[in-house]
Amino acid sequence: MPPAMECIDLLAARHGFDVTWRERDWNSERYLRDGAMMPSDGIEQMADGDGVFLGAVGSPGIPDDVTLWGLLIPIRREFMQYINLRPTRLLNGLSARASEADSIDIMVVRENVEGEYSEIGGRVYRGRPDELAIQEAIFTRRGVERAARFAFELAVRRGGRLISATKSNGIIHSMPFWDEVVNDVAEEYPKIEVESVLIDALAARGVLRPDSLDVIVASNLFGDILSDLLSAVAGSIGIAPSANLNPEREFPSLFEPVHGSAPDIAGLGVANPVGQMWAGAMMLDHLGRGDAARELTDAFERVIAAGHTTRDLGGTLGTREFSDAVLEQLNKGSEFTISERR
Ligand code: NAD
Ligand code: IPM
Ligand code: MN
Repeated sequence: MPPAMECIDLLAARHGFDVTWRERDWNSERYLRDGAMMPSDGIEQMADGDGVFLGAVGSPGIPDDVTLWGLLIPIRREFMQYINLRPTRLLNGLSARASEADSIDIMVVRENVEGEYSEIGGRVYRGRPDELAIQEAIFTRRGVERAARFAFELAVRRGGRLISATKSNGIIHSMPFWDEVVNDVAEEYPKIEVESVLIDALAARGVLRPDSLDVIVASNLFGDILSDLLSAVAGSIGIAPSANLNPEREFPSLFEPVHGSAPDIAGLGVANPVGQMWAGAMMLDHLGRGDAARELTDAFERVIAAGHTTRDLGGTLGTREFSDAVLEQLNKGSEFTISERR
């Protein structure tokens, strides 16, 4: 979080806009101290903000239903952030992991408030020989339709191709309904080429031919899994950003990396800050500062292209060293090129 905030502060100063951070220690330490991730009026405290910038949470030893369901999930739901937009791009200087693809540019549009993440029916029946857990998946026409429409609009702006991730061949009864609603929305977009691809085959295609993918609309769980997979294919899950959007802008949107709290490397100073920085760029873009957003993505891309990377990308830099190189690029402004650095 701190290096990403430093980048945003630097850009704000140069571009002449103000950023007021209201920092909140709504984390696992707070939970251990006060018994809750955030105060009971936490959502109200954020409601008049322009955006929420979140660092990943989750601690070994504290159940995820406390850390995630006590902070991230309520924010997504209370602020009706029904779209989770997750770009994957092959950055200059990086190679795709398993294929020869020399260009990857994918937008996963993940349905973000319903589907397999429904709270309805979630129950574990214990204390009997045949213990069981049940959870309903909820797909509403309105929920699928608005995710599909967002994805179609994005496909229009990006040149016309859309894949719908499905699983309607199995006995997952909700997926033929998903297909039906996506097809209904498709009728409004006759120029868009829509492909319905089974999620299992789509996962394999994402590894072997990521350059054949453009905009993908997916349910909550499928989109969650696909976005980690695709970012790893493009280098590392440490670089992937995520925008949890309330498209109507009735409530603030939330910007965070795709990855989690990486407990296996926590405190070592080696985490890749790009996912958090890129999420910051998506926030700037959302708030009408597309110029500053581009400067930020250009800056970390130039550092990576010059061969300076963190360990997850095969380099040796720590979080601070890498971040300082990005800040240095930002200080130099936009004239500085990759070749000059070499
Ligand atoms: P994770 O994403 O935290 O880590 C998976 C692997 O990726 C680990 O090896 C980790 O070291 C590596 N990694 C992740 N981010 C990295 C970065 N920036 N730089 C370099 N390497 C990085 O997934 P996990 O281990 O399954 O989850 C850990 C915790 O995070 C769990 O409690 C989980 O629920 C939580 N989580 C939180 C969020 C969120 O707050 N938005 C998202 C996902 C997972
Ligand atoms: C993500 C995360 C969350 C999700 C978890 C931590 C609840 O994996 O943002 O991708 O599944 O949505
Ligand atoms: Mn995830």
